[in-house]
Amino acid sequence: MKSQPLVLGIETSCDETAVGIVRGTTLLADAIASSVDEHARFGGVVPEVASRAHLEAMVPGIERVCKDAKVSLADLDAIAVTAGPGLVGALLVGTSAAAGLAFALDKPLYAVNHLAAHVSVDVLEHGALPSPAIALLVSGGHTSLLRVDDVSSRITALGATMDDAAGEAFDKVARILGLGFPGGPAIDREAQSGNVSAIDFPRGFTQSRDQEDHAFDFSFSGLKSAVARYLHDHPDFHVADVAASFQEAVVDVLLTKALTAAKSEGIEHLIIGGGVAANSRLRFLAEERATKVGVAVRIPRPALCTDNGAMVAALGSLLVTAGTTPSQPGFEARSALPVAQVTLA
Ligand code: KG4
Ligand code: ZN
Repeated sequence: MKSQPLVLGIETSCDETAVGIVRGTTLLADAIASSVDEHARFGGVVPEVASRAHLEAMVPGIERVCKDAKVSLADLDAIAVTAGPGLVGALLVGTSAAAGLAFALDKPLYAVNHLAAHVSVDVLEHGALPSPAIALLVSGGHTSLLRVDDVSSRITALGATMDDAAGEAFDKVARILGLGFPGGPAIDREAQSGNVSAIDFPRGFTQSRDQEDHAFDFSFSGLKSAVARYLHDHPDFHVADVAASFQEAVVDVLLTKALTAAKSEGIEHLIIGGGVAANSRLRFLAEERATKVGVAVRIPRPALCTDNGAMVAALGSLLVTAGTTPSQPGFEARSALPVAQVTLA
Protein backbone atom coordinates (compact mmCIF):
# COMPACT_ATOMS: atom_id res chain seq x y z
CA MET A 1 0.00 0.00 0.00
CA LYS A 2 1.18 3.53 -0.76
CA SER A 3 2.93 5.23 2.14
CA GLN A 4 1.09 8.53 1.63
CA PRO A 5 -2.55 7.73 0.94
CA LEU A 6 -4.86 10.51 -0.25
CA VAL A 7 -7.99 10.27 1.90
CA LEU A 8 -11.27 12.19 2.06
CA GLY A 9 -12.92 12.34 5.51
CA ILE A 10 -16.56 13.15 6.24
CA GLU A 11 -17.88 14.09 9.70
CA THR A 12 -21.56 14.68 10.51
CA SER A 13 -22.01 13.27 14.03
CA CYS A 14 -23.32 16.50 15.57
CA ASP A 15 -23.81 20.03 14.23
CA GLU A 16 -20.75 20.41 12.02
CA THR A 17 -20.83 19.27 8.40
CA ALA A 18 -17.12 18.79 7.99
CA VAL A 19 -15.08 17.45 5.10
CA GLY A 20 -11.30 17.17 4.96
CA ILE A 21 -8.59 15.80 2.72
CA VAL A 22 -5.22 14.58 3.94
CA ARG A 23 -2.26 13.00 2.22
CA GLY A 24 -0.58 10.71 4.73
CA THR A 25 -0.25 12.92 7.80
CA THR A 26 -0.43 16.20 5.89
CA LEU A 27 -3.60 18.29 5.97
CA LEU A 28 -4.49 19.47 2.45
CA ALA A 29 -7.95 20.97 2.93
CA ASP A 30 -10.69 21.26 5.52
CA ALA A 31 -14.18 22.72 5.10
CA ILE A 32 -16.59 23.13 7.99
CA ALA A 33 -20.17 24.35 7.84
CA SER A 34 -21.72 24.66 11.29
CA SER A 35 -25.43 24.85 12.07
CA VAL A 36 -24.62 26.13 15.58
CA ASP A 37 -26.44 29.45 15.03
CA GLU A 38 -29.65 27.60 14.16
CA HIS A 39 -29.50 25.78 17.52
CA ALA A 40 -28.57 28.79 19.64
CA ARG A 41 -32.12 29.82 20.53
CA PHE A 42 -32.82 26.27 21.81
CA GLY A 43 -29.71 26.27 24.02
CA GLY A 44 -28.51 22.96 22.55
CA VAL A 45 -28.28 20.97 19.33
CA VAL A 46 -31.65 19.98 17.81
CA PRO A 47 -31.11 16.69 15.90
CA GLU A 48 -33.61 17.32 13.08
CA VAL A 49 -32.22 20.78 12.43
CA ALA A 50 -28.69 19.36 12.34
CA SER A 51 -29.63 16.60 9.85
CA ARG A 52 -31.27 19.04 7.46
CA ALA A 53 -28.26 21.36 7.60
CA HIS A 54 -25.92 18.42 6.85
CA LEU A 55 -27.94 17.59 3.74
CA GLU A 56 -27.58 21.12 2.45
CA ALA A 57 -23.88 21.49 3.26
CA MET A 58 -22.53 18.09 2.20
CA VAL A 59 -22.03 18.46 -1.56
CA PRO A 60 -20.69 22.05 -1.39
CA GLY A 61 -18.26 20.87 1.33
CA ILE A 62 -16.91 18.02 -0.81
CA GLU A 63 -16.55 20.30 -3.84
CA ARG A 64 -14.80 22.90 -1.75
CA VAL A 65 -12.10 20.62 -0.30
CA CYS A 66 -11.34 19.06 -3.70
CA LYS A 67 -10.86 22.55 -5.09
CA ASP A 68 -8.73 23.73 -2.14
CA ALA A 69 -6.59 20.59 -2.16
CA LYS A 70 -6.36 20.71 -5.97
CA VAL A 71 -7.34 17.06 -6.30
CA SER A 72 -10.20 15.33 -8.07
CA LEU A 73 -12.32 12.65 -6.45
CA ALA A 74 -10.81 10.12 -8.86
CA ASP A 75 -7.37 10.72 -7.25
CA LEU A 76 -8.51 9.51 -3.82
CA ASP A 77 -7.11 6.29 -2.33
CA ALA A 78 -9.91 5.95 0.23
CA ILE A 79 -12.93 7.60 1.85
CA ALA A 80 -13.46 7.67 5.62
CA VAL A 81 -16.63 8.66 7.44
CA THR A 82 -17.75 8.94 11.06
CA ALA A 83 -20.12 6.02 11.75
CA GLY A 84 -20.64 6.80 15.46
CA PRO A 85 -21.03 7.73 18.22
CA GLY A 86 -23.32 10.67 17.52
CA LEU A 87 -26.85 11.69 16.56
CA VAL A 88 -28.11 8.88 14.39
CA GLY A 89 -30.02 11.06 11.89
CA ALA A 90 -26.98 13.31 11.52
CA LEU A 91 -24.60 10.36 11.11
CA LEU A 92 -26.81 8.90 8.39
CA VAL A 93 -26.33 11.92 6.14
CA GLY A 94 -22.55 11.50 6.26
CA THR A 95 -22.50 7.73 5.95
CA SER A 96 -24.93 7.79 3.01
CA ALA A 97 -22.83 10.40 1.21
CA ALA A 98 -19.63 8.45 1.86
CA ALA A 99 -21.11 5.12 0.82
CA GLY A 100 -22.51 6.68 -2.37
CA LEU A 101 -19.17 8.24 -3.26
CA ALA A 102 -17.22 5.07 -2.50
CA PHE A 103 -19.57 3.03 -4.68
CA ALA A 104 -19.59 5.50 -7.57
CA LEU A 105 -15.80 5.93 -7.52
CA ASP A 106 -15.01 2.32 -6.63
CA LYS A 107 -12.85 3.36 -3.67
CA PRO A 108 -12.33 1.63 -0.31
CA LEU A 109 -14.57 2.98 2.47
CA TYR A 110 -13.71 3.18 6.17
CA ALA A 111 -16.59 3.67 8.63
CA VAL A 112 -14.79 5.00 11.69
CA ASN A 113 -15.22 5.89 15.34
CA HIS A 114 -15.52 9.63 16.06
CA LEU A 115 -13.48 9.39 19.29
CA ALA A 116 -10.60 7.57 17.59
CA ALA A 117 -10.69 10.33 14.96
CA HIS A 118 -10.37 13.00 17.68
CA VAL A 119 -7.19 11.24 18.86
CA SER A 120 -5.83 10.71 15.34
CA VAL A 121 -6.03 14.34 14.28
CA ASP A 122 -2.94 15.15 16.32
CA VAL A 123 -0.77 13.43 13.67
CA LEU A 124 -1.54 16.37 11.38
CA GLU A 125 0.03 18.78 13.82
CA HIS A 126 2.66 16.88 15.80
CA GLY A 127 3.47 13.81 13.66
CA ALA A 128 3.25 10.11 14.53
CA LEU A 129 1.30 9.43 17.71
CA PRO A 130 3.25 8.39 20.82
CA SER A 131 2.43 4.87 21.92
CA PRO A 132 1.06 4.01 24.34
CA ALA A 133 -0.74 7.24 25.24
CA ILE A 134 -3.58 8.37 27.46
CA ALA A 135 -6.21 10.36 25.58
CA LEU A 136 -8.60 12.79 27.23
CA LEU A 137 -11.49 13.68 24.92
CA VAL A 138 -13.70 16.49 26.10
CA SER A 139 -16.49 18.02 24.05
CA GLY A 140 -20.17 18.86 24.10
CA GLY A 141 -21.08 15.23 23.49
CA HIS A 142 -18.34 13.24 25.18
CA THR A 143 -15.94 13.12 28.11
CA SER A 144 -13.72 10.07 27.81
CA LEU A 145 -10.46 8.90 29.22
CA LEU A 146 -8.78 6.32 26.99
CA ARG A 147 -5.69 4.20 26.82
CA VAL A 148 -4.47 4.20 23.24
CA ASP A 149 -1.95 1.50 22.32
CA ASP A 150 -2.63 1.79 18.60
CA VAL A 151 -5.23 4.26 17.37
CA SER A 152 -6.05 2.06 14.37
CA SER A 153 -6.79 -1.04 16.41
CA ARG A 154 -6.26 -0.94 20.18
CA ILE A 155 -8.15 1.61 22.24
CA THR A 156 -9.37 0.88 25.76
CA ALA A 157 -11.92 2.98 27.63
CA LEU A 158 -10.71 3.82 31.14
CA GLY A 159 -13.59 6.10 32.10
CA ALA A 160 -16.31 8.44 30.89
CA THR A 161 -18.85 10.88 32.23
CA MET A 162 -21.76 9.44 34.16
CA ASP A 163 -23.99 12.45 33.41
CA ASP A 164 -23.18 15.72 31.60
CA ALA A 165 -20.26 15.95 29.19
CA ALA A 166 -17.64 18.58 30.09
CA GLY A 167 -18.68 20.87 27.21
CA GLU A 168 -22.32 20.39 28.11
CA ALA A 169 -21.51 21.63 31.63
CA PHE A 170 -19.88 24.74 30.11
CA ASP A 171 -22.93 25.26 27.90
CA LYS A 172 -25.44 24.85 30.75
CA VAL A 173 -23.55 27.06 33.18
CA ALA A 174 -23.12 29.73 30.48
CA ARG A 175 -26.84 29.61 29.94
CA ILE A 176 -27.68 30.25 33.60
CA LEU A 177 -25.09 33.03 33.62
CA GLY A 178 -26.80 34.54 30.56
CA LEU A 179 -23.70 34.15 28.38
CA GLY A 180 -25.31 32.45 25.35
CA PHE A 181 -24.57 29.25 23.38
CA PRO A 182 -22.12 27.65 22.89
CA GLY A 183 -21.00 28.47 26.38
CA GLY A 184 -17.40 27.25 26.41
CA PRO A 185 -15.80 30.14 24.54
CA ALA A 186 -17.96 32.68 26.47
CA ILE A 187 -16.95 31.27 29.87
CA ASP A 188 -13.32 31.07 28.77
CA ARG A 189 -13.48 34.78 27.86
CA GLU A 190 -15.28 35.88 31.04
CA ALA A 191 -12.93 33.84 33.22
CA GLN A 192 -9.91 35.81 31.98
CA SER A 193 -10.83 38.62 34.39
CA GLY A 194 -12.12 36.41 37.22
CA ASN A 195 -10.58 34.87 40.33
CA VAL A 196 -10.20 31.09 40.00
CA SER A 197 -10.39 30.58 43.75
CA ALA A 198 -13.24 33.01 44.50
CA ILE A 199 -15.70 30.14 44.97
CA ASP A 200 -14.83 26.60 46.02
CA PHE A 201 -17.04 24.60 43.64
CA PRO A 202 -17.23 20.79 44.05
CA ARG A 203 -14.92 18.43 42.14
CA GLY A 204 -17.11 15.47 41.16
CA PHE A 205 -15.90 11.90 41.74
CA THR A 206 -12.62 12.92 43.36
CA GLN A 207 -13.36 11.80 46.93
CA SER A 208 -11.61 8.72 48.27
CA ARG A 209 -14.96 6.86 48.33
CA ASP A 210 -15.16 7.30 44.53
CA GLN A 211 -11.77 5.76 43.85
CA GLU A 212 -12.93 2.16 43.71
CA ASP A 213 -15.82 2.48 41.25
CA HIS A 214 -15.24 5.81 39.53
CA ALA A 215 -11.51 6.55 39.63
CA PHE A 216 -11.52 7.54 35.94
CA ASP A 217 -15.16 8.47 35.50
CA PHE A 218 -16.55 12.00 35.60
CA SER A 219 -19.65 13.70 36.94
CA PHE A 220 -20.45 17.34 36.19
CA SER A 221 -24.14 17.60 37.05
CA GLY A 222 -23.42 18.27 40.76
CA LEU A 223 -21.11 21.12 39.78
CA LYS A 224 -23.78 22.60 37.51
CA SER A 225 -26.30 22.47 40.39
CA ALA A 226 -23.77 24.01 42.76
CA VAL A 227 -23.33 26.96 40.38
CA ALA A 228 -27.13 27.37 40.11
CA ARG A 229 -27.42 27.27 43.93
CA TYR A 230 -24.63 29.82 44.32
CA LEU A 231 -26.32 32.24 41.90
CA HIS A 232 -29.61 31.83 43.75
CA ASP A 233 -27.98 32.49 47.14
CA HIS A 234 -25.82 35.42 45.89
CA PRO A 235 -28.00 37.67 43.69
CA ASP A 236 -25.15 40.19 43.40
CA PHE A 237 -22.71 37.55 42.09
CA HIS A 238 -19.67 38.54 40.05
CA VAL A 239 -19.95 36.81 36.64
CA ALA A 240 -16.21 36.65 35.96
CA ASP A 241 -15.48 35.05 39.35
CA VAL A 242 -18.23 32.45 38.89
CA ALA A 243 -16.95 31.68 35.37
CA ALA A 244 -13.33 31.40 36.52
CA SER A 245 -14.13 29.27 39.58
CA PHE A 246 -16.44 26.97 37.61
CA GLN A 247 -13.88 26.57 34.82
CA GLU A 248 -11.17 25.84 37.39
CA ALA A 249 -13.27 23.05 38.92
CA VAL A 250 -13.83 21.39 35.52
CA VAL A 251 -10.22 21.72 34.41
CA ASP A 252 -8.89 20.53 37.78
CA VAL A 253 -10.98 17.34 37.66
CA LEU A 254 -10.10 16.63 34.01
CA LEU A 255 -6.37 16.98 34.57
CA THR A 256 -6.29 15.22 37.93
CA LYS A 257 -7.99 12.17 36.42
CA ALA A 258 -5.95 12.19 33.21
CA LEU A 259 -2.64 12.42 35.05
CA THR A 260 -3.67 9.82 37.63
CA ALA A 261 -4.57 7.50 34.74
CA ALA A 262 -1.17 8.13 33.15
CA LYS A 263 0.53 7.27 36.42
CA SER A 264 -1.51 4.17 37.11
CA GLU A 265 -1.00 2.85 33.55
CA GLY A 266 2.69 3.80 33.60
CA ILE A 267 2.26 6.00 30.50
CA GLU A 268 4.22 9.19 29.79
CA HIS A 269 2.14 10.72 27.00
CA LEU A 270 -1.19 12.54 27.17
CA ILE A 271 -3.18 13.64 24.12
CA ILE A 272 -6.10 16.02 24.69
CA GLY A 273 -8.82 16.63 22.11
CA GLY A 274 -12.45 17.66 21.60
CA GLY A 275 -14.00 21.13 21.67
CA VAL A 276 -13.21 21.78 25.35
CA ALA A 277 -9.51 21.26 24.56
CA ALA A 278 -9.73 24.72 22.99
CA ASN A 279 -10.11 26.09 26.55
CA SER A 280 -7.21 28.39 27.37
CA ARG A 281 -7.05 27.44 31.06
CA LEU A 282 -7.07 23.71 30.25
CA ARG A 283 -4.27 24.18 27.72
CA PHE A 284 -2.17 26.20 30.18
CA LEU A 285 -2.67 23.98 33.24
CA ALA A 286 -2.25 20.75 31.23
CA GLU A 287 1.24 21.83 30.23
CA GLU A 288 2.11 23.03 33.74
CA ARG A 289 0.79 20.06 35.68
CA ALA A 290 1.92 17.37 33.24
CA THR A 291 5.46 18.71 33.09
CA LYS A 292 5.66 18.46 36.88
CA VAL A 293 4.96 14.73 36.79
CA GLY A 294 7.04 13.93 33.70
CA VAL A 295 4.17 13.52 31.26
CA ALA A 296 4.44 15.00 27.74
CA VAL A 297 1.21 16.65 26.56
CA ARG A 298 0.01 17.03 22.98
CA ILE A 299 -2.99 19.24 22.21
CA PRO A 300 -3.76 20.10 18.59
CA ARG A 301 -4.54 23.71 17.69
CA PRO A 302 -8.10 24.70 18.66
CA ALA A 303 -9.48 24.40 15.08
CA LEU A 304 -8.46 20.73 15.06
CA CYS A 305 -9.85 20.11 18.56
CA THR A 306 -13.46 20.90 17.62
CA ASP A 307 -15.23 18.53 15.22
CA ASN A 308 -13.69 18.58 11.75
CA GLY A 309 -13.35 16.44 8.63
CA ALA A 310 -9.56 16.33 8.69
CA MET A 311 -9.63 14.19 11.84
CA VAL A 312 -11.69 11.55 10.06
CA ALA A 313 -9.42 11.69 7.02
CA ALA A 314 -6.37 11.43 9.30
CA LEU A 315 -7.71 8.25 10.91
CA GLY A 316 -8.62 6.91 7.45
CA SER A 317 -5.07 7.49 6.31
CA LEU A 318 -3.67 5.64 9.37
CA LEU A 319 -6.04 2.74 8.67
CA VAL A 320 -4.98 2.52 5.01
CA THR A 321 -1.32 2.58 6.06
CA ALA A 322 -1.95 -0.11 8.70
CA GLY A 323 -3.53 -2.33 6.03
CA THR A 324 -6.89 -2.42 7.82
CA THR A 325 -9.71 -4.14 5.92
CA PRO A 326 -12.20 -1.56 4.58
CA SER A 327 -15.83 -1.57 5.80
CA GLN A 328 -18.59 -3.33 3.90
CA PRO A 329 -20.87 -0.95 1.96
CA GLY A 330 -23.91 -2.07 3.99
CA PHE A 331 -22.58 -0.96 7.41
CA GLU A 332 -25.00 0.89 9.69
CA ALA A 333 -24.27 4.09 11.61
CA ARG A 334 -24.35 3.49 15.38
CA SER A 335 -25.23 6.29 17.76
CA ALA A 336 -23.62 4.51 20.73
CA LEU A 337 -20.60 2.96 18.99
CA PRO A 338 -18.19 1.81 21.75
CA VAL A 339 -14.78 3.44 21.62
CA ALA A 340 -12.93 0.11 21.42
CA GLN A 341 -14.48 -0.38 17.98
CA VAL A 342 -12.31 1.82 15.77
CA THR A 343 -13.92 0.74 12.47
CA LEU A 344 -17.13 -1.01 11.44
CA ALA A 345 -16.68 -4.25 9.52
O1 KG4 B 1 -15.94 18.89 19.75
P1 KG4 B 1 -17.05 19.89 19.64
O2 KG4 B 1 -16.92 20.97 18.61
O3 KG4 B 1 -18.43 19.20 19.34
C1 KG4 B 1 -18.89 18.09 20.03
O4 KG4 B 1 -18.56 16.94 19.63
O5 KG4 B 1 -19.60 18.32 21.03
O6 KG4 B 1 -17.24 20.53 21.09
C2 KG4 B 1 -18.16 21.54 21.35
C3 KG4 B 1 -18.11 21.86 22.85
C4 KG4 B 1 -19.20 22.83 23.30
O7 KG4 B 1 -19.80 22.31 24.47
C5 KG4 B 1 -18.42 24.11 23.60
O8 KG4 B 1 -19.00 24.90 24.62
C6 KG4 B 1 -17.07 23.56 24.03
O9 KG4 B 1 -16.84 22.46 23.17
N1 KG4 B 1 -16.00 24.54 23.88
C7 KG4 B 1 -15.29 25.05 24.91
C8 KG4 B 1 -14.42 26.03 24.37
N2 KG4 B 1 -14.61 26.07 23.01
C9 KG4 B 1 -15.58 25.15 22.72
N3 KG4 B 1 -15.35 24.76 26.22
C10 KG4 B 1 -14.54 25.45 27.03
N4 KG4 B 1 -13.68 26.41 26.59
C11 KG4 B 1 -13.58 26.73 25.28
N5 KG4 B 1 -12.74 27.68 24.88
ZN1 ZN C 1 -16.40 15.44 18.76
